[in-house]
Amino acid sequence: ISSKGGLLDVDLEALSMNTTLSGRQFHLLGYNDRIPGPLLQAQPGDTVRLRFTNRIGQPTNLHYHGLHVPPTGNADNVFLKIPSGETLTYEFTLPENHPAGLFWYHPHYHGYVADQVFGGLAGAFIVRGELDEIPEIKAATEHVLLLKDYDPDAGRIGSRATRGMMGAHMAQMRGREGAVVTVNGEIQPTFNLSAGGLLRLRLLNASSSRFYRLSLEEHPFYLIATDGGAIAEPVELRELLLSPGERAEVLVRGDREPGQYRLLNLPYDRGGMGMMGGMMGRGPGGSANVTETLATITYHGQTDVLPLPKTLIPVETLPEPTQTRRFLLNHGMNPGRGMVFLINGRAFDHQRIDTTVGLNTVEEWELINTGVMDHPFHLHTNHFQIASVNGTPPPYRAWKDTVLVPFGQSVRIRIPFRDFGGKTVYHCHILDHEDLGMMGMLAIQ
Ligand code: C2O
Ligand code: CU
Ligand code: CU
Repeated sequence: ISSKGGLLDVDLEALSMNTTLSGRQFHLLGYNDRIPGPLLQAQPGDTVRLRFTNRIGQPTNLHYHGLHVPPTGNADNVFLKIPSGETLTYEFTLPENHPAGLFWYHPHYHGYVADQVFGGLAGAFIVRGELDEIPEIKAATEHVLLLKDYDPDAGRIGSRATRGMMGAHMAQMRGREGAVVTVNGEIQPTFNLSAGGLLRLRLLNASSSRFYRLSLEEHPFYLIATDGGAIAEPVELRELLLSPGERAEVLVRGDREPGQYRLLNLPYDRGGMGMMGGMMGRGPGGSANVTETLATITYHGQTDVLPLPKTLIPVETLPEPTQTRRFLLNHGMNPGRGMVFLINGRAFDHQRIDTTVGLNTVEEWELINTGVMDHPFHLHTNHFQIASVNGTPPPYRAWKDTVLVPFGQSVRIRIPFRDFGGKTVYHCHILDHEDLGMMGMLAIQ
């Protein structure tokens, strides 16, 4: 669904639905009866008006992950509550200088986020702009690959009978993974690379907990954009790790010989396996030890392979920070609640402001994972750049909104707080951790 005349006008309805995946019936939650939700597209300067109706039987709302828009009013306000049966109209305007890139939307009503995203609610949101006008990129064949896993009964959220069970709680502590992994709701689809040209894959990890360590069977691919838009020039990669919430755009070139590559999800250890005496198992569909085939790319031989763009969009150098802060990520036990997930020793409280920053300042935040599981740290409203990982600066500058902080490691990020004041949040994007407390409130003023 694309914008026209500067307006993206959409009706979106969240509801329970049935669908069939590899011959099995799945009971899921969907937007407009689709898995995944409809692809939304707009341009910088456009107004987005979205009439949202909740029919899932419990409160929900919408968050526009990665968009640089106000966190207040009826814009990207995650503190809004939309009871089941009600409609709310979201409206906001993308700034004229909003970066082009791949963003997404999903529920964000605290305490229900993991259930609803795991249940199936998620969709991609493309902002088209400068990056899309680069001739080589414009000529590429483009696909959005929304990576998401599902469980057959994940949409049955009305009955919470299973939530109290020991196994279910264990799975939540590590972060639930579904039995079936899909690309755009399909199991192992095929993408064609036509005319020896370039293929542009827009990759989104929309899973609530699953990680994707992607490779094309050793065939190189070229990173052109991260969460917050383009990087300065293509970077050749053999593999790419996407933790929940992260996006990346890559170009793939055909060879001179016809053939195919599989898009693989390689094993990755995100920690937590040894907790609770090993009881916190992966459950069915865990991705730590197996290589999964996500999709196949087939291409037809061509004598000339199209060139890659030499440069993309410059990424600015941020000034020195005026303030530095430290955030410790860990978990703890809460009598009566079981395990809770904490930032600086505290679980989320919607009545407490955890961090106050000045509008139009630049800060550096040190994120330290003192726990035993990886935590992808996500900030709303403003993009940031990674300043260092365990003290080492990254090889290239890039705009991010979600950064993986592996267990035992520390990451420094530099954030310019621009354009919009108000209350917003940062949290772990393993959404079970977020619902179990790993979120903080940020006031920008
Ligand atoms: Cu994608 Cu606060 O979330
Ligand atoms: Cu977000
Ligand atoms: Cu986490």
